Amino acid sequence: MSNKAARNLFVFGSLFFFAILVILTFDTLGKVDKRAPEITAAVNAGKMVWHKYDCIGCHTILGNGSYFAPDMTKAVERKPKEYLKRFLMEPKAVNPRATMPKLGMNAEEAENLLAFLDWISKVDTNDWPPKPILAVATKAETPGQVVYQKYNCASCHSIRGIGGTTAPDLTKAGSKYNAAWHMAHFRDPQSVVKNSVMPSFGHLSEQELKDLTDYMLTLK
Ligand code: HEC
Ligand code: HEC
Repeated sequence: MSNKAARNLFVFGSLFFFAILVILTFDTLGKVDKRAPEITAAVNAGKMVWHKYDCIGCHTILGNGSYFAPDMTKAVERKPKEYLKRFLMEPKAVNPRATMPKLGMNAEEAENLLAFLDWISKVDTNDWPPKPILAVATKAETPGQVVYQKYNCASCHSIRGIGGTTAPDLTKAGSKYNAAWHMAHFRDPQSVVKNSVMPSFGHLSEQELKDLTDYMLTLK
């Protein structure tokens, strides 16, 4: 290769890749704002609460933090807000086996924190972290199993070892209660279990509740 050809290759090669860099930079900048919802005052306040109680000393968020406790990036998608609020204020009141300490947070702080965690959960992280395997590990074969997965019961309960551990194991739920009990419990847990913190599923259709109850009764 002559000197001239080498110089041309260098100059035009550099220009070519510099142009690609510029195009990709603008492309990324155009997307950045769309990857997260707007930051409200509550979200900001919640972030301060997050720092105040050093949540990151135990939890990870967006991949950063400690590995002692579950990742918080999608925490609000796994459990209902009302449940999480009570958990944050007094972990043992909703989960007697909880090892998370009572941090002394008030209701306003808990609400702001949930606004912050809600915001975090909506940041586009390219599907990171992967969904917990509990949602896909079992195939739904009966209508009841479909409803069970649809409403994420496994985020709190486990059946034969698959699922969450914050609520009672359901492997033998069918031998403990009858159909009427389950229906009443789904509609309004506190009507049959005093101080229950299970969320109500009264908004489900009659058919869904029946399917779910049939499923529960097979668990023996
Ligand atoms: C000393 C360690 C520690 C600190 C500090 C801590 N957590 Fe936790 N947290 C845990 C552990 C452990 C769990 C798993 C459940 C359990 O065993 O309590 C948990 C569970 C949770 C859950 C999930 C509850 C559920 O049922 O899915 C949320 C939400 C949560 N923590 C939020 C927070 C927030 C927000 C802070 C800061 C205000 C915080 N945690 C501070 C240890 C901690
Ligand atoms: C946010 C956590 C949470 C979710 C989600 C949840 N539960 Fe529960 N569940 C609980 C807690 C806590 C209890 C214990 C208090 C009670 O019995 O009401 C419980 C109790 C139960 C019991 C009685 C178990 C026993 O041995 O006494 C059944 C059955 C049950 N849940 C079924 C379901 C089904 C089906 C779903 C999904 C539609 C569901 N739960 C969703 C927290 C949850």
